[in-house]
Amino acid sequence: MTTHYPLNTGERDALRLQRLHDIYAPYTQTFLQAAGLQSGMQILEVGCGTGLMAILLAQAAGPNGHVVAIDRSAEQLQIAKQNAQRAGVDNIEFICLDVLNIKSLNRQFDFIYDRWLLMFLPAPFATIRDLFSMLKPNGILTTEEASFFNLGLYSYPAVSAVQTWGEIFGKSCAVGKADGYLADKLYSYYQQIGCQNIVLKMHQPVLTTPIEKSVLALGAYSFQTLALQNGFLSEEDYQKFIAELTQLETQDVMIVFVRNALIRGRKPG
Ligand SMILES: C[S@@+](CC[C@H](N)C(=O)[O-])C[C@H]1O[C@@H](n2cnc3c(N)ncnc32)[C@H](O)[C@@H]1O
Repeated sequence: MTTHYPLNTGERDALRLQRLHDIYAPYTQTFLQAAGLQSGMQILEVGCGTGLMAILLAQAAGPNGHVVAIDRSAEQLQIAKQNAQRAGVDNIEFICLDVLNIKSLNRQFDFIYDRWLLMFLPAPFATIRDLFSMLKPNGILTTEEASFFNLGLYSYPAVSAVQTWGEIFGKSCAVGKADGYLADKLYSYYQQIGCQNIVLKMHQPVLTTPIEKSVLALGAYSFQTLALQNGFLSEEDYQKFIAELTQLETQDVMIVFVRNALIRGRKPG
């Protein structure tokens, strides 16, 4: 079985992922450190994309630790390898693999992490269970997913393009068969697989600088094909929508952006 990933990959999405990473990663790092991420660990990241979190994980693992980072897209992995090389990190093993076949790795890890992957899978609970089975005793499972429940996306002053962005984002995920409510199921899933010491946090960033706010226009590019194919807006209205989002970047508008759920739990020893 394979899955359908509705967004762009490779160079067409690298800048968006980098900007999102810059917004979310500082909070993620604090959360992962509190989870017990430390040097010497054997770490697995699934759906690593362009490798941005894999690099931070590898730096935390240090010279005696190791990261296996998998993604199904060879295009993403090519960029990930370049990013790792640029960052001077050499303890990451990038593997092109569908997470649905993750158990074929046949390895055990101290720490497993994913960001913005599980929501795109047809049966995320089964993958969470697979990942849990690949932890060593006392190993730590962590997941970071966007929480769409009551999306909570808004701007001040209110701007209709921000509202439209939320609507198109939600509809694109729905037709792309992504589960926007997965984040809110994670606590229950972690309990069901037998995780202990579960901690769940929500993080909602506020975008104020032009660079931060550019993630809206970049996101609109990423789901443009889906949105046009499904008639959410006409091609002309879509161009106007992107132009409005771009103008926002230099306007005195602050945007309260998509909330992420971060969860961690421990495998019993
Ligand atoms: C939204 S991106 C997130 C990338 C990265 N985790 C990050 O936070 O920057 C989702 C990634 O999951 C990958 N992906 C989607 N379905 C997959 C699957 N079934 N197995 C492995 N990777 C998959 C995509 O290729 C893409 O790189």
